[in-house]
Amino acid sequence: MTKAIGPFKQLLTFSSLPLKGALQDEQLEVVENAGILLAADGNIARILPFKELEDYCAKEKILLERLEGDFVAMPGMIDAHTHICWGGTRARDYAMRVAGKPYLEIAKAGGGIWDSVQKTRAASEAELTQKVVQRANKLLQNGTTTIEVKTGYGLTVADELKMLYAIRAANEHVAADLVSTCLPAHIVPKDFDGDGMAYVEYLLQDFFPKVQAEQLSSRADIFVEESAFNHTEARKYLVGVQAMGFDITIHADQFTAGSSLLGIEFKAISVDHLEASTEKEVAALAQSDVIPVALPGASLGLGCAFTPARKLLDAGTSLAIATDWNPGSAPMGDLLTQAAVFGAFEKLSMAETLAGVTFRAAAALNLQDRGQLITGKSADIVAFPTSDYREILYYQGQLRPSMVWKKGKKC
Ligand code: NIG
Ligand code: FE
Repeated sequence: MTKAIGPFKQLLTFSSLPLKGALQDEQLEVVENAGILLAADGNIARILPFKELEDYCAKEKILLERLEGDFVAMPGMIDAHTHICWGGTRARDYAMRVAGKPYLEIAKAGGGIWDSVQKTRAASEAELTQKVVQRANKLLQNGTTTIEVKTGYGLTVADELKMLYAIRAANEHVAADLVSTCLPAHIVPKDFDGDGMAYVEYLLQDFFPKVQAEQLSSRADIFVEESAFNHTEARKYLVGVQAMGFDITIHADQFTAGSSLLGIEFKAISVDHLEASTEKEVAALAQSDVIPVALPGASLGLGCAFTPARKLLDAGTSLAIATDWNPGSAPMGDLLTQAAVFGAFEKLSMAETLAGVTFRAAAALNLQDRGQLITGKSADIVAFPTSDYREILYYQGQLRPSMVWKKGKKC
């Protein structure tokens, strides 16, 4: 059944904007006093002046969801990088970190990713499903309608599959879309009998073919860092997953620069983190179609530098912004707050920050069907209680959405 929603004081469409490069607020299409006509398939049929929409609905006997008050609508946000499938907490790590102990030292001393691996292995698939549902619903309430979710706390074939099953089950229970990514190459598990190369071979032989056979995910990620996988191991892994047809994304340049160049070499969809990227990596990324994904939640959680977003955009790259929500480096899980604070520090225009959580984030997940309020795209919509779109970021996360629609359905 077709349906209509409105009026909206302002509607941010993100129509006709480039995928790459700096943006100015003047480039944003802001449609005033508009309404949205929905198609039966949950996509947007048309954006219309509200008066016209009202007349059309009366004539065609279409149900109109009439909104009382002032609202600004924009596409539902897209969180292109999370690790929301985990067991336990790492508050102990956080206490040590804020007291001055570095992340990598805590990891060496038995904390870090390995600690979450043990807690996640101990959790049942049902428990993990419930955790993912809870966290995804929190993101949804705050306006995020598409959420990427990584594995990476299982690190055996069985435990990584358990995470993928939990993500798939959670997807059935939440209105938001969950997009799963395989990150079995998060670290070499301490109990694996062999070195990094042997572990990569094990994953390519025993894990990825199962993922494909059961159609559990089409994306593969790897953490390339001194404490995780080196470039030789990463090349082996990337050659293997690429040959199987997986879309590639990389945890790159988080503490050490250089691994984003691997992303370019392997035509990754995105390279994420980049806090340590130098001018060399920025320049190379600008010559490629790889999408940089900034993770301000990890900078806030670790108390370290932000991804050089201003430099990246000025050099000509795209830029998505995601939460990295995970138990270790990024426990906050609040995309709007993080994007707003990040924009203030990195001197991003509102257009650049909002593009980073909408259509540019869709591109970071290789999704073409969402992220803009235009005809034919999914009616994933978030409405804020204001008449000025600038207030969405101005309140730095404290202006929460009043309404969220996924595929045209109110959540
Ligand atoms: O993106 N850097 C690697 N992985 C995660 C952290 C995971 C953890 O600390 O549990 C990240 O920050
Ligand atoms: Fe991450």
